[in-house]
Amino acid sequence: MLDKDYWKNRWQTSTTGWEVGAVTTPIREFVNHLVEKKTDKNCRILIPGAGSGHEAIYFYEQGFHNITVCDWAEEAFKTIKEKLPQLPDNQLVVSDFFDLVGVFDLIVEQTFFCAIDPTLRTQYAQKCSELLNKEGKVCGVLFGKEFDFQGPPFGGTEGEYRAYFNPYFEIEKMDICHNSIKPREGSELWINLRKK
Ligand SMILES: C[S@@+](CC[C@H](N)C(=O)[O-])C[C@H]1O[C@@H](n2cnc3c(N)ncnc32)[C@H](O)[C@@H]1O
Repeated sequence: MLDKDYWKNRWQTSTTGWEVGAVTTPIREFVNHLVEKKTDKNCRILIPGAGSGHEAIYFYEQGFHNITVCDWAEEAFKTIKEKLPQLPDNQLVVSDFFDLVGVFDLIVEQTFFCAIDPTLRTQYAQKCSELLNKEGKVCGVLFGKEFDFQGPPFGGTEGEYRAYFNPYFEIEKMDICHNSIKPREGSELWINLRKK
């Protein structure tokens, strides 16, 4: 069962095959684009299932300090605590994503959606919508193909994902990701979803 103990155990035993060790290219280029567009640096950003938080660290380094990371395994936060000691404790939230309360302008997705039980995908879309400000967005990457092994990670298809998100979001983009890291090349979709 993919419960809190399962994930704590993955961290405690360092069975963290998803770990890239740095911000991934799609998220790095996305942050750079936000900077170029002169996006309000005070916007409230949430990264659920953030793990080591390399993406959050990059956001912070580019001046987006209003960033909250959530993970229900506190072991996950070792790296971000070391690399970003200035991040206030209340922006490091040890919680089940589905229990989170708050209001955000942007939710950043990377290998969290694929880590939850696929039966929770509709709930994920609904929860993201609930946590977002009016016209808030979910941006990031989803795996865009089925895997021939038992997850996590769990794959899926664009058609399936559209069905989950359509009731809550305008799907501004859900397309093959052109700047994935090498091991994920051709298997990711970039998503840009605006709350309805
Ligand atoms: C596959 S890892 C991805 C970590 C990070 N996003 C990355 O790309 O390196 C999934 C993370 O989600 C966390 N997680 C899984 N289910 C969760 C839930 N319901 N609420 C909060 N965190 C959860 C796990 O503890 C784990 O750190």
